[in-house]
Amino acid sequence: MGKIHIEKGSVQETLIIPLYGRKLCAEQFPALYQDPYAAGICESIDYDFTQFKTKEKSGMYQFGALEGAMREKDMLWEIKDYLEKHPNAAVVNLGCGLNMTGRTADNGTCRIYNLDFPDVIQSRNALVPAEEREENIACDLNDFSWMDQIDAGDGAVLYAAGVFHYFTTQQIKKMVVAMAEKFPGGRLVFDAVGKFGRDKLMKGTLKSMGMKDVSGLFCVDEASELEGWSPKVKLTSRKSYMQGYYKLDDPNIKGIHRFLAKLCNSLAKMYIYRMEFTA
Ligand SMILES: C[S@@+](CC[C@H](N)C(=O)[O-])C[C@H]1O[C@@H](n2cnc3c(N)ncnc32)[C@H](O)[C@@H]1O
Repeated sequence: MGKIHIEKGSVQETLIIPLYGRKLCAEQFPALYQDPYAAGICESIDYDFTQFKTKEKSGMYQFGALEGAMREKDMLWEIKDYLEKHPNAAVVNLGCGLNMTGRTADNGTCRIYNLDFPDVIQSRNALVPAEEREENIACDLNDFSWMDQIDAGDGAVLYAAGVFHYFTTQQIKKMVVAMAEKFPGGRLVFDAVGKFGRDKLMKGTLKSMGMKDVSGLFCVDEASELEGWSPKVKLTSRKSYMQGYYKLDDPNIKGIHRFLAKLCNSLAKMYIYRMEFTA
């Protein structure tokens, strides 16, 4: 099989950043993070990773990779927590990229759905084809017909890792309200940055994806901004990416990583949010 190609300058290309970050963290911080899939997937992709390889020793770059890995661990915590009470639930990966969270969380009875744009799903089908109780769905998340393809009879935990940044606030609000109607008793978990994080830290990435005006893109400074969207939506948790769920415990974690982790909360407001939909 030839290597899978990922188009440069597309929103889909953003999946490369967390994927490579997970590979790097599994190599550099093995006591903190393990990933049995990322390295093999990177090898199967036709993509020039030189830009990342040359930065691997930089504390700043390592920190960016750690963010992606910790976010993955945090989401896994939330999924497993939901599955304890709803073991047969649908585990729905919104904007999955080449992320294997669903399979890592698999309890043997849940149903796993991976959703992304058609070209990403095509790559995914070639690289990591769906297994038993798993389905890959090609869609645009803004077209809510994907919701009809989810069997949520036994509950649903939906999560978006590094995805909502590419939507406007209005689009996210509409999607969340629709999910609350469609998946009563469900849980939604996502990450978001504040305005400073969006305008100063993410602007470069967003611009390289053709998003020149970032002002309407989704960001959250205060949890109260997420309230009052629908009587069926309740914000039940807001925790720091980097320290909210796990300690940064690994012998290779340096002072700069800990320092930047603190800035992540205070300046960039990088948090994982959990919403519950009333049954
Ligand atoms: C930064 S990547 C994150 C990928 C994955 N969640 C991870 O953590 O590795 C963002 C992903 O969201 C997908 N995405 C963005 N907008 C989307 C949309 N409107 N519909 C479906 N997928 C979308 C992109 O194609 C990309 O795979």
